[in-house]
Amino acid sequence: MDAKTDNKTGTLTVGNKNYDLPIYNGTVGPDVIDIAKLYGQAGIFTYDPGFTSTASCESKITYIDGDEGVLMYRGYPIEQLAEHGDFLETCYLLLYGELPTPSQKADFDYRVTRHTMVHEQMSRFFQGFRRDAHPMAVMTGSIGALSAFYHDSTDISDPHQRMVASIRMIAKVPTLAAMAYKYSVGQPFVYPKNELDYASNFLHMCFAVPAEEYKPNPVLARAMDRIFILHADHEQNASTSTVRLAGSSGANPFACIAAGCACLWGPAHGGANEAALNMLAEIGSVDRIPEFVKRAKDKNDPFRLMGFGHRVYKNYDPRAKIMQKTCHEVLSELGIKDDPLLDVAMELEKIALHDEYFIEKKLYPNIDFYSGITLKAMGFPTTMFTVLFAVARTVGWIAQWKEMIEDPKQKIGRPRQLYTGETRRDYIPISRRK
Ligand code: SDX
Repeated sequence: MDAKTDNKTGTLTVGNKNYDLPIYNGTVGPDVIDIAKLYGQAGIFTYDPGFTSTASCESKITYIDGDEGVLMYRGYPIEQLAEHGDFLETCYLLLYGELPTPSQKADFDYRVTRHTMVHEQMSRFFQGFRRDAHPMAVMTGSIGALSAFYHDSTDISDPHQRMVASIRMIAKVPTLAAMAYKYSVGQPFVYPKNELDYASNFLHMCFAVPAEEYKPNPVLARAMDRIFILHADHEQNASTSTVRLAGSSGANPFACIAAGCACLWGPAHGGANEAALNMLAEIGSVDRIPEFVKRAKDKNDPFRLMGFGHRVYKNYDPRAKIMQKTCHEVLSELGIKDDPLLDVAMELEKIALHDEYFIEKKLYPNIDFYSGITLKAMGFPTTMFTVLFAVARTVGWIAQWKEMIEDPKQKIGRPRQLYTGETRRDYIPISRRK
């Protein structure tokens, strides 16, 4: 169902003139006022750096109610998908809008599984990186490089090529991520094994070594699969908006996903899980928490509690609750009784949730607060945390890119600006400059 107008309008008064602008309402969530014709009618732009009050598109994929702490993929609550489904089912749902039937699921699993290998020449591509390169640098480069290997799925006007490119990225990004990890630790690349499920195959490619048999721990594989589900999509976040903007120019899908990966790397976004764990390690012990909470509240101190706060969630991030439960499951499976970082995290959360600064600013733990502790316990170095986020978010980026490309109203994204620079002035030859 598309946005409904019900002939509702909003009136904007500029100077002594009124402008009636259409208001649309979706199936749930705030209405929007359509300002597309405002500049043509009133010669004025709207101004919203950071897009705090701007809907950049119409979408049917993911819905967040930040005040209620609700997240739904295609209408299904994240709690139910994380509890009952698996990641490839979530991928199918995000891409096609419905939960797959048993035969659709089997076919989708088959197609993804048989695209998990990358062109053998890709391993030569990796050799160009320093061993100590940040894995996100390697990921951003290698995802972009996929467009140099898979020319037969870069024509975005061909629905078949769009589908092949989508399957290839869902299938190959985990392989590239595992290769980035192996390269960073100086171990040989491990090929995918088709008899393993998606998450088990990823753990196998990351942690198996030729010298001995590796059997993925089913509890850790289930936790990995659930972590992928939690990170799969999240409305028009910074990296998804980057993918949409890149895609609006007609760039090939691999280049668009590489752009999203680059944006995700930022510590305010997907890099927060790495930053959150580094912060917990820097705090080090429960008795140092007040010092850091004080710094987080100090306007003159750039320090922020990483893993806390969110542009949309002004209540608890529902993913953080599931992440916390998964964290305890993983630690108990691994027999880790008292993880000092977990002690600091639990105490920090308790203190922050009772501190009037955080209550007033509605700052709650987000998905990144507990993910780092879980991933570290599973054996991943902190530099791999955002890579794992990118593995999961690849399907969200692709689903949003696909929705944009298939939208008949789609056009290139080209925002305007409020210009406060110099007015016109004439060139001064250097001989006359002082
Ligand atoms: C992700 O968009 C998404 O959906 C992202 C994501 C996804 O799945 O794609 O959910 C993934 O990116 C989660 C967020 C991970 N980032 C972090 O944990 C980094 C720490 N958090 C902050 O940088 C911040 O909360 C943001 C960036 C997440 C949100 O910033 P906003 O919405 O721009 O809010 P803001 O910076 O304007 O903060 C509002 C107020 C400010 O104080 P005032 O200027 O009003 O006095 O709250 C304060 C901020 O100083 N504040 C914090 C804080 N976060 C906000 N103070 C201390 N610690 C923090 N973490």
